[in-house]
Amino acid sequence: MPKILVTGGCGYIGAHTIVDLIEHGYDVISVDNNSRSTMRILEGAEKIVGRGIKNYKVDLCNFDDTRAIFQENEDIAGIIHFAAYKAVGESVEQPLMYFENNLTSLINLLKCVQEFNVPYFVFSSSCTVYGSPDKIPVTEATPPKPAESPYGYTKQMGEQIINEFSKAVNTQCVLLRYFNPVGAHPSALIGELPLGKPSNLVPVITQTAIGKLPQVQVFGGDYDTRDGSCLRDYIHVCDISRAHTLAVDFLIAGKSDKRCEVFNLGTGVGVTVLEAIKAFEKVSGEKLNYMVGPRRPGDVMAIYANNEYAVKTLGWDIKYNIDDMMSTAWKWEQKLKADESFYSNQHAGLN
Ligand code: WQD
Repeated sequence: MPKILVTGGCGYIGAHTIVDLIEHGYDVISVDNNSRSTMRILEGAEKIVGRGIKNYKVDLCNFDDTRAIFQENEDIAGIIHFAAYKAVGESVEQPLMYFENNLTSLINLLKCVQEFNVPYFVFSSSCTVYGSPDKIPVTEATPPKPAESPYGYTKQMGEQIINEFSKAVNTQCVLLRYFNPVGAHPSALIGELPLGKPSNLVPVITQTAIGKLPQVQVFGGDYDTRDGSCLRDYIHVCDISRAHTLAVDFLIAGKSDKRCEVFNLGTGVGVTVLEAIKAFEKVSGEKLNYMVGPRRPGDVMAIYANNEYAVKTLGWDIKYNIDDMMSTAWKWEQKLKADESFYSNQHAGLN
């Protein structure tokens, strides 16, 4: 079984991807220093796949510690790199911390990829690289615009670094631009664990419904959209993780004729904030306490993906709709309420 190194394997999308990789015949090792994650999530992934998953508790900003992983695992067939800080608001307050962490870790990893001749590298990117697009839906050819935050710049710069790197070495790369990953594994053994008060819509909805937050504030009801609220392309985390395994399959099968491929990972369906709230109320049977308030600075009014290239090239079959996203997110939130230990130890100092 080809061995895939997943960085950020204890994180939300990392853990879901590890499950999909193992279920599709790959051997997996994780690297995660748990600075923003908890081993509880990887333990949940182990329960789903029924086997242990090794995690190296290493900070990728430490080159020697990172290199030691490659010395111990000479058989790494490919890497999927998730590990990064990703809070948009925090990146605005602490830009240098974001540039240092997200770019140093990437460069250290790529140095090891080059030294140990790792043939394939998949990078966790984001639709944030498109900024506020002039035309939607966006395709992979839509030119990036100035990012909305230092976090967004680390994704744009990361893509540029990898693109140039791929021209100089034998490693073939894939950039996966996620739209809005939401939901949880149907087993409710793994899901999203926001640190402290969440800023993303779906955890805000589920935490409000469960009583952890008082109310959902809809950021803006006066946009030029069908109901005045912002439009996004929400995509289930299991569809996102499936696309990662397919990207690795695609590379290992030698089907890529480019040094660096780019794919949009979205459903191709735009959903507004108010529609997302209605979907949640429908599947949960809960009446959500929300109000429409002022716009959030930096928000893009509307963006969703043209995902045809990924669907066609990767043979990607999207399975989950907005109702599934909300029902699995709600089931996960209810699981967390029943098992508060997910929020103990690892996150105690971070809330
Ligand atoms: C979605 C919509 C808000 C909270 C960000 C990053 C992106 C990726 C996903 C990392 C917007 C509205 C939200 C709330 C609201 N992150 N909203 N009330 O901003 O589209 O994307 O997270 O990879 O890179 O930019 O996601 O979930 O914060 O917001 O009305 O309490 O929900 O205005 O329209 P966003 P989000």
